[in-house]
Amino acid sequence: MNIITQIAYLIASIFFILGLKKLGSAKTARQGNQFSMIAMLIAVVVTLLDQGIVDFQYIIVGVVVGSLIGVIVAKKVEMTSMPQMVAIFNGLGGGASAFVALAEYYGADSVAIFSYDVSVAMLLSLFIGALTLTGSFIAFGKLQGFITSAPVVFGGQQIINLLLFIGFIGLSGYFIFDPTQEMDLLIILGIASLLGVLLVIPIGGADMPVVISLLNSYSGIAAATTGFVLGNNILIISGALVGASGIILTKIMCVAMNRSLANVIFGAVGTDDSGGSSGAQGSTEQRNVTRYTPEDAVLMLENAQSIIIVPGYGLAVAQGQHIVQEMASIIGSQGGKVRYAIHPVAGRMPGHMNVLLAEANVPYDTLCDLDEINDDFQNTDLVLVIGANDVINPAARTDKQSPLYGMPILNVDKAKSVMIFKRSLSSGFAGVDNELFYDEKTMMVFGDAKKSITELVSLLKEN
Ligand code: TAP
Repeated sequence: MNIITQIAYLIASIFFILGLKKLGSAKTARQGNQFSMIAMLIAVVVTLLDQGIVDFQYIIVGVVVGSLIGVIVAKKVEMTSMPQMVAIFNGLGGGASAFVALAEYYGADSVAIFSYDVSVAMLLSLFIGALTLTGSFIAFGKLQGFITSAPVVFGGQQIINLLLFIGFIGLSGYFIFDPTQEMDLLIILGIASLLGVLLVIPIGGADMPVVISLLNSYSGIAAATTGFVLGNNILIISGALVGASGIILTKIMCVAMNRSLANVIFGAVGTDDSGGSSGAQGSTEQRNVTRYTPEDAVLMLENAQSIIIVPGYGLAVAQGQHIVQEMASIIGSQGGKVRYAIHPVAGRMPGHMNVLLAEANVPYDTLCDLDEINDDFQNTDLVLVIGANDVINPAARTDKQSPLYGMPILNVDKAKSVMIFKRSLSSGFAGVDNELFYDEKTMMVFGDAKKSITELVSLLKEN
């Protein structure tokens, strides 16, 4: 490859890295996307011009068909279905890597002369790519409801997985010393595809966002290894960036949920993705809570100077983001100070609340991360918790038996008063009761979040 191509790849890599950096904050995320798009454009155009392309006709057809499908799907997909779309993208990325590795094998003049390092890269690309493809489609099926979201477990599952992995290692060793063993490669493709299914089916639907993030990392590693097969530097760099950022995101999600990755993969916690189980309800029905109607709530709102809104999964379910933003601007116009406290795992996917609120044009400077806002709760007049539950549960600090123990939570219980909007006393994702509901400073406004806030907004407008 000539020097100009390498310089162009270097520039593309810089744009990729800057793009990732800018994705770290809601304020700069749009620019981050634009930088990454520029990087991808440079990488694709330079590669097409540099490599000896056999026939542009197929490439053009592929680009047109792929772009059309991409634009239509991206425009149509609901915000709550975003994890499914990411799962499909990851799967296709992994599949592409596996097919490129196969194409290199079948397109080679003589496979017998493959060096060890190329053979290893090819095997990894095929194995990780195929596993990512089938695993991601199972994850998609679980989230979309095509496959049961409950864990599918059967006797000897782990042993079968182990045997399949040993089979992969054995066949790989054989192939590295004798690359003419075409059948080895095809069996490895089969093993990897089966492992992708077997590793994801035992995981509950509600843990799929973590799995998707992990598979995203795998798709990057598959792309990087394909880069070694092709000797293409930009594929190695961009694949490594996806692999590393995917694994970092997976780790952040696990830490924020106070769970190990092993517990997510083998633990089968949170098997129901309905957004709340009634498990805790039975034990709590007898206890008293302070019930408020939107009419009562409006008086509290008008008297509060500082307000923090805590959004959670229920806000996404209710699709109440626009009305919440309208309420915040009315309070702001009446002299109240409103900020939003964003917990890293509120909702069901990374950045769920940021994306939801951005859709309603909530100003970025009112969105505060947990570390930024947690000390301010104690000086806050009123906290409005809208469809959140686990991320405000004080048991995470005190109850060693709670599955939430150790998870950093928003210090909502330290505020002067708290108003919680949800439909019932049901638990959230973790399936545990929340003492804050029964605290004397807490007011419960029962009902669908969008409906309750809409009533509140009309009352605010009337006054
Ligand atoms: P949750 O603890 O799941 O609570 C959501 C609450 O929303 C439920 O208690 C439910 O109560 C309420 N709700 C549902 N529909 C509603 C509606 N239409 N109107 C009003 N309320 C509604 O949510 P959270 O506080 O956002 O915490 C997220 C949880 O998900 C954490 O445990 C986290 O570890 C887990 N998780 C997060 C992620 C990521 S990456 N974000 C990934 C996997 C798992 P009712 O039924 O009583 O209304």
